[in-house]
Amino acid sequence: MKVLMLGGTRFIGLRLLRALAREGHQVTILNRGKTEATLPEGVERLYADRRDPAAVRRALAGREEGFEAIFDMTGYQVRNLEPIVEMFNGRIKHYVFCSTAGVYAKSVTLPVLERFPYRSKVGTAPGLASYTAEKVQCEEFLLDTNRTKGWPATILRPAAIYGPENWMDDREGSYFARLLLGRKILVGGTGESLIHIGHVDDFARACIAAAQSDASIGQAYNINGSEAVTANGLVDIIASVVGAKAEKVYVPYGQAKGSMDGIMPLEGERNAIYSIQKARDHFGFWPRFDFRAGIADTYEWWRKQRGLERIEFTPGKLGHDVDLAYEDQMIKRWG
Ligand SMILES: NC(=O)c1ccc[n+]([C@@H]2O[C@H](COP(=O)([O-])OP(=O)(O)OC[C@H]3O[C@@H](n4cnc5c(N)ncnc54)[C@H](OP(=O)(O)O)[C@@H]3O)[C@@H](O)[C@H]2O)c1
Repeated sequence: MKVLMLGGTRFIGLRLLRALAREGHQVTILNRGKTEATLPEGVERLYADRRDPAAVRRALAGREEGFEAIFDMTGYQVRNLEPIVEMFNGRIKHYVFCSTAGVYAKSVTLPVLERFPYRSKVGTAPGLASYTAEKVQCEEFLLDTNRTKGWPATILRPAAIYGPENWMDDREGSYFARLLLGRKILVGGTGESLIHIGHVDDFARACIAAAQSDASIGQAYNINGSEAVTANGLVDIIASVVGAKAEKVYVPYGQAKGSMDGIMPLEGERNAIYSIQKARDHFGFWPRFDFRAGIADTYEWWRKQRGLERIEFTPGKLGHDVDLAYEDQMIKRWG
């Protein structure tokens, strides 16, 4: 395929780019040129800020006929999407939008299916709430332009994504680091809430499979791992991969401040399970990594490319926004 990817240099888009290049697809990426990455040979890079529609039009002018598929990793607001629809509608076969499982309202039944209701599309607070509200607005816009103008959109809804090249040091990498440092691990409640996340390379495979399927046009799909894991299980599996012993400290929900509210990265107070059956039925997607294999694969990369030596480890910080001093207070209070 001749592919245009919006994004492509940080994590999810970058791994998708690597998968596309391995399979011999011809890829052009468009981003601002701020995030550095070693790109596969033959990838073309165009430059524009998605928030500036005129710049996006200029960067893509004359290229309207050149692509079969677009992967959109940087669509956060409807106004980012409009110029792409205007320039490419009727000219491409497929547009795949990276959304999020955060678009769903809280559900009392599990697993969450794609037809379950949206959360409010009004962001109540900056950060996660407005991010997910704006993704709902994007989805509605895309499904509407599919119905009214034939825009060949497919929406993919991953929950949290983990894996090699994850730039977010406060995610799985922070568990690797804490365990290697012999730190106690904070867990919310009893540690029995279910966490459902997916490996980045499985997500990349789903993107490519969706783009090559006619059945996926005008549809939304959960894309996630094949299994959910309890918070206790997540910590134990990561510890066994790292070769460390996990000592857990349980913190009642509602007792941690700010970003610690879930207590630990990847963990939520409510169970999360997303059905991925629809993607399997429509375009044959099923994850290759179970949770243990996915974590082992990720640790292999992290050990060589990040490791304790390469992350910012100062007395107050572990990676970019983990406050160890505050965590120590919590460990003392609840340990
Ligand atoms: N990580 C998760 O757990 C998770 C979960 C669910 C959904 N998602 C979704 O995953 C997508 C992002 O993944 P990623 O960051 O790993 O993707 P990526 O495509 O690998 O990296 C982000 C890209 O966006 C470019 N970019 C950032 N701001 C831009 C702007 N204003 N204009 C143009 N380009 C811009 C960056 O390059 P420059 O800096 O050079 O511009 C970079 O190439 C999002 O759609 C997000 O909603 C992530």
